[in-house]
Amino acid sequence: MSEKSTLVVSKIKHGTVIDHIPAGKAMNILSVLGISGEKGDRIAIIMNVESEKLGKKDIIKIEGKWLEPRDFDVISLIAPSATVNIVENFEVVKKYKVSLPDRVEGLLKCPNMTCITNERNESIKTKFKVLSRDPLKLQCEYCGTIIYKDDIVKLTNYLKK
Ligand code: CTP
Ligand code: ZN
Repeated sequence: MSEKSTLVVSKIKHGTVIDHIPAGKAMNILSVLGISGEKGDRIAIIMNVESEKLGKKDIIKIEGKWLEPRDFDVISLIAPSATVNIVENFEVVKKYKVSLPDRVEGLLKCPNMTCITNERNESIKTKFKVLSRDPLKLQCEYCGTIIYKDDIVKLTNYLKK
């Protein structure tokens, strides 16, 4: 346990713990995953607690929920340091480190309204090339528009049903 915080939050029984999220980004992660809490999921959001690796970090615990591969990519855009823990019967049975792919496909909208990916009659999957990881900088492969870390949350068009 690397959590030194005195903030006590229960262990979960079955589900997912997204850990080592940069401090303050938990709400952004939930938003891009399309998790609002309105569907009744049991969610713990822990923000700005002490972390050995990050100084401060956020943690999200979701009972009874498992992520899909695309979720890992979208998390990596906002929280490249995140680990995703799969919990079964109160034990961590799998731990993944998210990793940012070289190309980000179908997860973000291009901010250029005249980009072919925004044409009404076309359904072209967006594609961005990762130009730089830190600070994060992506480029639309169709129109060349550059997007930066701070644009990511508002350009996420991937919402889970
Ligand atoms: N966790 C939880 N419920 C469980 C088991 C673990 O909420 N039943 C949480 C822990 O509180 C921690 C995360 O899942 O935030 C990872 O747990 P664990 O691997 O036991 O912690 P560490 O070894 O500290 O993880 P790391 O090495 O990734 O820092
Ligand atoms: Zn574009």
